[in-house]
Amino acid sequence: MIALGSLLNVNSIGVVVALLVVTTTYWKWKYQYWKRRNVPYLEPRIPFGNMEEVIRGKQLLGIRLAEIYKEMKSKGWRHGGIYTFTRPIYIVLDLDYVRNVTTKDFKYFMDRNVFVNEREPLQAHLLNLSGTRWKNMRGKLTPTFSSGKVKAMFQVMAESENELQQKMYQEYKKNQPIDIKEILACFTTNVIGTCAFGLDCQALEDEDSPFRVFTRNIFVTTRLESFKRLLSVTFPLVAKLINLKFSLKENVDFVMKMVQDTIDYRKKNNYTRKDFMQLLINLKDADGDGHNRGSISMDELASQVLVFFAAGYETSSTLMTFALYELARHEDIQEKLRREINSVLEQHNGQMTYDSIQDMKYLSQVIDETLRMHSPAAQLSRTCIKDYKLPDQDVIIEKGTTVIIPVMGIHYDEEYYPEPEKFDPERFTDENKKSRPNYTFMPFGEGPRNCIGMRFGLVQSKMGVVSLLKDYKLTVNKKTIEPLYYSPGHLFLSAEGEIWLDAEKI
Ligand code: HEM
Repeated sequence: MIALGSLLNVNSIGVVVALLVVTTTYWKWKYQYWKRRNVPYLEPRIPFGNMEEVIRGKQLLGIRLAEIYKEMKSKGWRHGGIYTFTRPIYIVLDLDYVRNVTTKDFKYFMDRNVFVNEREPLQAHLLNLSGTRWKNMRGKLTPTFSSGKVKAMFQVMAESENELQQKMYQEYKKNQPIDIKEILACFTTNVIGTCAFGLDCQALEDEDSPFRVFTRNIFVTTRLESFKRLLSVTFPLVAKLINLKFSLKENVDFVMKMVQDTIDYRKKNNYTRKDFMQLLINLKDADGDGHNRGSISMDELASQVLVFFAAGYETSSTLMTFALYELARHEDIQEKLRREINSVLEQHNGQMTYDSIQDMKYLSQVIDETLRMHSPAAQLSRTCIKDYKLPDQDVIIEKGTTVIIPVMGIHYDEEYYPEPEKFDPERFTDENKKSRPNYTFMPFGEGPRNCIGMRFGLVQSKMGVVSLLKDYKLTVNKKTIEPLYYSPGHLFLSAEGEIWLDAEKI
């Protein structure tokens, strides 16, 4: 018996050793990919490649990519290769290459590297769609986001500004440090709720309203969610094979019902409103049955509603939070901006209008500098959809390769932004902007696949900043962890421990 036992032990050890050898050899062979393709690369480590800290949930992806950018740039590279597990990722540094990928040779890099489960409802939205389906949908939705449409939506948006004021006043009266992101998140929930879902703001006041429950659900980043995201971008084939699902059934049912109810209500009561929902309903009705060219189906309509919400809510509240944080740290800049706000509002009879916000030039500079330092989306991603030969090198980027533009790395590159850690809105005067090369500022992405909601996001963020700054003087409370540290568990930039401000009424 003993002899059989030890034989089995020896055998199992043998199997484990053989497996280890095979796996290591496979990994090592995989890690030859960039060398074979003649692309300089950072040395990967088995098994995580160059992304160990990110995969272990210890570092935000955008920050790791900024480190990678810096390391590659210091070696004088114009591009380079890395690995996530065994998956090769192509990193673009040179601004001409950035232009080629995002704009000039866009037809090779049209898609994002997301796995889309076509069998799931609410997945047919712009962020996800690829190829011709994306192109058609983008074409249909582009007019919805024109400056004229956003201007017309301003009044609907402004209804939420009163609530922001009320909420801020309640917090101010408590005489406690203020979690500013929380207040701003309520504001953007209201704005997007009212503009995308067509809800009246009152519906949002109740903490336990179905809408609030939904918004809490949609942004939970559990370990399982993070793992699913990682799996879907690293091994999309496996994700497809196991029919990986992302949407919670409750969320799907909720969105579908809310959209249907809103449409029915508007039809029945012949009611229209200048909001996204109406523009989408008009598109759906354009050619009758929702399947002809020029129109969209019910699932497509509901998908856009969902993505306007998902893409518009967190990004804008993040932008406002960091803008107010930087203003709270820099009293002189805050004062200068307040003087501009007061003077422009005076010229507009004290009214905050679309035009008055456009007249605030220094506000734009402050917002741009915030977006440079704390870009909510810290990287752009594309997938190469057909083999692409670099115009000036003997290198071919293969179909299916994930391409990343490390926006945060570029935004902190000393060559373009001396003293990058310094918050300095003067970098964004018209003159200084002209002195920098193109593609050095990309908070909304670039090219035909850039952010469709940029104007809307900027207007709502500026509205929030103006609204709070005109009535309150802000300073940083010591509860804020400084220097700031971006928490790893989030999709967008978010300060670990939150940002806490003190407010003094003016
Ligand atoms: C400050 C606010 C915002 C920031 C910083 C931001 C940033 C971005 C970025 C970086 C992208 C990727 C662009 C690329 O890959 O080149 C993007 C895409 C997108 N954004 Fe925004 N966004 C903001 C607000 C909004 C708002 C308010 C909406 C909608 C109401 C929106 C809807 C979208 C959509 C639908 C896409 C996908 C576009 C496509 O693939 O065709 N975003 N956004």
